[in-house]
Amino acid sequence: MKQPSLRSLVFLSAGLLSLGAAQAMAASTSASPSTAMTPGVKQFVFGTLPDGRTVHGYRINSGGDVDMEVIDYGGIITSLKTPDRHGEKADIVLGFNSLQDYLSPAYKKLNPYFGALIGRYGNRIADGRFTLDGKTYQLATNDGPNHLHGGDEGFNQKLWQATPFSSSEGSGVVMRYTSADGEEGYPGELAVEVKYTLTHDDTLAIDYSARTTKATPVNLTQHSYFNLNGEGSGSILDHVMTIDAASYTPVNKTLIPTGEIETVAGTPFDFTQPTPIGARIEADNEQLMRGKGYDHNFVLAREPRPTLEHAARVSSPESGRVLDVLTTEPGLQFYSGNFLDGSVTGKGGQAYGHRSGLALETQHFPDSPNQSGFPSTILQPGETLESHTVYRFSTED
Ligand code: GLA
Repeated sequence: MKQPSLRSLVFLSAGLLSLGAAQAMAASTSASPSTAMTPGVKQFVFGTLPDGRTVHGYRINSGGDVDMEVIDYGGIITSLKTPDRHGEKADIVLGFNSLQDYLSPAYKKLNPYFGALIGRYGNRIADGRFTLDGKTYQLATNDGPNHLHGGDEGFNQKLWQATPFSSSEGSGVVMRYTSADGEEGYPGELAVEVKYTLTHDDTLAIDYSARTTKATPVNLTQHSYFNLNGEGSGSILDHVMTIDAASYTPVNKTLIPTGEIETVAGTPFDFTQPTPIGARIEADNEQLMRGKGYDHNFVLAREPRPTLEHAARVSSPESGRVLDVLTTEPGLQFYSGNFLDGSVTGKGGQAYGHRSGLALETQHFPDSPNQSGFPSTILQPGETLESHTVYRFSTED
């Protein structure tokens, strides 16, 4: 697989941004997935929601080595196939083949947010409460005492309006959703656009933008779970992780940041050098016990950054697959799949057990609306939120 330089990725991203009104490509409709992929986007019917609305899937190939499928329900990435070091393809994201599985009681009980777009506020808000311009807002408390990932019915459960496109950079789908003023207790009507582009050279670029009619907290992210040996193939503890973070935000017992920015030096959170995820995950460390493993926000920079910078690299010695994450966001939630417990069975027929997938959620810090020391997540009317993340797929020997 080609290995584009960091510099070319930054230029690529700038190019993608300027494509703004990239020409929408007419999508063809087919009832069932076919295996022969030609470059472009193919639309198909994925399922029907209980209220009768049709959920569509989009099969994306950009002429490179990666194939992807995304659905307009939750903006969920349902499949991402990449080659291993021998060119053998496997699906490296956890998820399902059918809509019923994303709606099942077992899935809703576990609520792992497989592959979904997360909003309005990715991660936690303490007690589901924040005060903005003198007014206190109460949101749903759907994670113990706290608000998590947008509330009872976050963006992961919304039907987005999807527009497939092909451009000189690759192919993809633009997802749009307008969140009503007051939805899930948040102020302001929020118009959100998320552009997934699968590029010719095996990167998935995710470009987020949002505008609001009233000041509101916003923290958008993507919640794919990766297993670089293939979904359903067991635990990710052998994966080797590097995170470009000198510090992280420790949490209290309910996983709300204490407000401190602590150095990773000398702790199991030091991933500045490539380290197997399992090497220290069972260490006698209070933070790891609170998270039941890694479930922490790593501090990539103090302020939002204007250009994409490298944030993390994870590789599998077994398959040779490598995933690099680049982002403009100041934080990265590394979640080691600690709540997966085998209660749901994935698309390949294997139960998803403890730590069988990992998430690298680019984001602002958790609970920022209540933490004056953290970069602000408040979007004002007249402003446009812009956020860019790239997942780059490659292999090593
Ligand atoms: C995020 C949270 C985790 C967990 C997962 C979904 O990563 O930080 O604690 O809620 O989402 O299970």
